Amino acid sequence: MKSTILLLLLSSFMIKVLSHSCEIYTVNNQLSARCNNLNLNEIPTDLDSQIKVLRCESNHLTSISSVSFVRYFQLQEIYLKKNQLKSIPYRLFFPVENLQILDLSRNRLESIPTTALEYTPKLREIILSYNYINRIDEFSFKNLARLLKLDISHCHIRFIQPNSLKNLKSLTELNVIGNELKGLISTTILPKSLTVFRLHHNKWICDCKLRWLLQFLTNNKLKISWTFGNRIPRCQNPELLKGVRWTELNSTNFACAPTIIRYTSYVSVNATLNCLSTGDPQPEVTWYKKNLRVTPSKRNRITFWRTFKKALDIFHYNSSLKIINMTEKDIGLYKCVSLNSAGRSEVTISLSGSSSMRAESNWEKKKLRALSASLTCFLLVILCSIISILMLRIIKRRRLSGVYRIQNQGAESAGSKCEEDATASPLQQIDSITHKHAETPNSTPDLLKNNWTEEEAVGTAV
Ligand SMILES: *[C@@H]1O[C@H](CO)[C@@H](O)[C@H](O)[C@H]1NC(C)=O
Ligand SMILES: *[C@@H]1O[C@H](CO)[C@@H](O)[C@H](O)[C@H]1NC(C)=O
Ligand SMILES: *[C@@H]1O[C@H](CO)[C@@H](O)[C@H](O)[C@H]1NC(C)=O
Ligand SMILES: *[C@@H]1O[C@H](CO)[C@@H](O)[C@H](O)[C@H]1NC(C)=O
Repeated sequence: MKSTILLLLLSSFMIKVLSHSCEIYTVNNQLSARCNNLNLNEIPTDLDSQIKVLRCESNHLTSISSVSFVRYFQLQEIYLKKNQLKSIPYRLFFPVENLQILDLSRNRLESIPTTALEYTPKLREIILSYNYINRIDEFSFKNLARLLKLDISHCHIRFIQPNSLKNLKSLTELNVIGNELKGLISTTILPKSLTVFRLHHNKWICDCKLRWLLQFLTNNKLKISWTFGNRIPRCQNPELLKGVRWTELNSTNFACAPTIIRYTSYVSVNATLNCLSTGDPQPEVTWYKKNLRVTPSKRNRITFWRTFKKALDIFHYNSSLKIINMTEKDIGLYKCVSLNSAGRSEVTISLSGSSSMRAESNWEKKKLRALSASLTCFLLVILCSIISILMLRIIKRRRLSGVYRIQNQGAESAGSKCEEDATASPLQQIDSITHKHAETPNSTPDLLKNNWTEEEAVGTAV
């Protein structure tokens, strides 16, 4: 029993010793307490109540009592860096109305201690870097009109609400380095008093939505510092600009590649193809059929118009290709291409004929088939006629050549004449026939009779 009491006494004595090992010193006439690296679980309660500066860095504070500072109401600077604080009690700073500097960096805060900061209207500087705060909401900094410096670097911040910085009317320095910011909404109100804006090492998507920021920084180049030697914001996206420093870009480089968001085709007497795209700068929309560009003509009408979509804060561009009096030839695949400096987007739209057109085209096909059949027939008839005429002529000629041979039988042998005839060209033969015909006056029925037998002999020889 005695020994336990002794142990308890001893341990309480030890704690006293530990807390008293905080160093009390004076700097610039300000009484300060330094309690760094003391494995503390709580703020010591027995320090000089007149302290103006309290350093309690690199300890084991996992939570903090809301009355921790009641005794130290004169505090102007509180440093709680490198602890494990997850939250800050609502009334923690209520007693320290003169608080000017607050360092809560490298803790485990998951949000801005908004309610607690409502009691610190004289705060000039707050350091919240290296916490787990992933967003800055509208009312995060409500009552901090005198704040000059805000450090929310390395906090995994992804989103900053556009009005969240509105009340920081005196802010000169804003540090959002090393977060996961991809963009800032164009309606974000940045304090007019801002002179230093540290924003490198984020995941900036350098597209048309962020163009305003580059424009703002470029326009206020003389007033706001945002590049610090090599520490210059760079683009993480789009691929085209990956790793490029903002100082190498101008606002036209911050563009949005086109996206085709909808397309339709409609067929009746006229065919209409629609292609709806977005993109900034304004894309140029072109139409292709079989890789040939469709240009406006009497039959092809191309119209283009834009509409501003307020809710989305973007323009929609509608291109329409109208084919007047569509025919079967117009059926097929069409391509809509939307193009600007940041890229291109394309879709293939199929234009099929209407059912009536298909019926019509079937009828046309039948008509064409009938026509070609009759044409073939017609040609055949002509060919048959030509052949019969030729045959007739040949028959006639053979008849005459028989006459000729009979006439010359006395002078030459019939056999040799026959050979000559065989070697002569048909034209010559015809010539000789007509010639002989002219020379031979009336032929007698007798000769004709003879000729029939002769002709048979020549026919087999030829
Ligand atoms: C922006 O930069 C591009 C080259 O990246 C250049 O062609 C263009 O003229 C510049 N525009 C302005 C407004 O300076
Ligand atoms: C087809 O387009 C022409 C020219 O725009 C128009 O005059 C005609 O009325 C249209 N026909 C139909 C059926 O829409
Ligand atoms: C379309 O067809 C109508 C009726 O057949 C005709 O009057 C008109 O000239 C045609 N238009 C064109 C562009 O071919
Ligand atoms: C695009 O134009 C076509 C043709 O006039 C129209 O039918 C369609 O509704 C338009 N689309 C949009 C989204 O404006």
